Amino acid sequence: MENNIVPYKYAITKERRNTVNKHRSLVLWFTGLSGSGKSTIANLVEIELHKLGVKTYSLDGDNIRSGINKDLDFEPHCRTENIRRIGEIACLLIDAGLVVLASFVSPYKIDRETVGNIVNSTNFVEIFINTNISECKKRDVKGLYRKAEKGEIKNMTGVSAPYEIPENPDIEIRTEEEQIEESVKRILDFISPKIQLNHE
Ligand code: ADX
Repeated sequence: MENNIVPYKYAITKERRNTVNKHRSLVLWFTGLSGSGKSTIANLVEIELHKLGVKTYSLDGDNIRSGINKDLDFEPHCRTENIRRIGEIACLLIDAGLVVLASFVSPYKIDRETVGNIVNSTNFVEIFINTNISECKKRDVKGLYRKAEKGEIKNMTGVSAPYEIPENPDIEIRTEEEQIEESVKRILDFISPKIQLNHE
């Protein structure tokens, strides 16, 4: 079937959108355990980018899984499909000219690599939100770890399902050791040359 697909070349390209927006587009991929602080940090980074006039969009597990991916559970093959689809969505949003902040547990190294391949590694910034499982369990904002310990949730990452630590992330944030303002600043400093804000 794929052989009969012929993409139409639209006149308005990503490059033209980037020029109008006065910045390049890319994806900031926040990976880490549930409760590690991915969405909290992504939210603060997005606020700062928004203040600078950067066009952004946030994606996260809880909103994507209640909509486009509501047919997927937490079995390994469903997580893989979850991340693949999000990679494709991020790719469209990059083409639309946005800086995408994607916060997903994304526990498998191969799935994170897939996203890098879909969006092109030059558009992919991997940010490892490194919070110890004991701290995530202590925070347990959503009460999921308590349920997992009681056996009410299966395949809970960090309890009954694995998390493969990124070997070479672009940025690693140790939330128990660093002030959140400092983490946000480090992310902004890292991406600033990549998005080339106000670059003519
Ligand atoms: S991923 O593994 O496929 O990347 P995703 O980020 O979309 O996961 O969704 C994770 C969110 O779903 C968590 O923040 C948590 O709120 C919720 N959740 C529900 N069940 C699980 C589970 N078994 N493992 C991890 N997260 C879960």
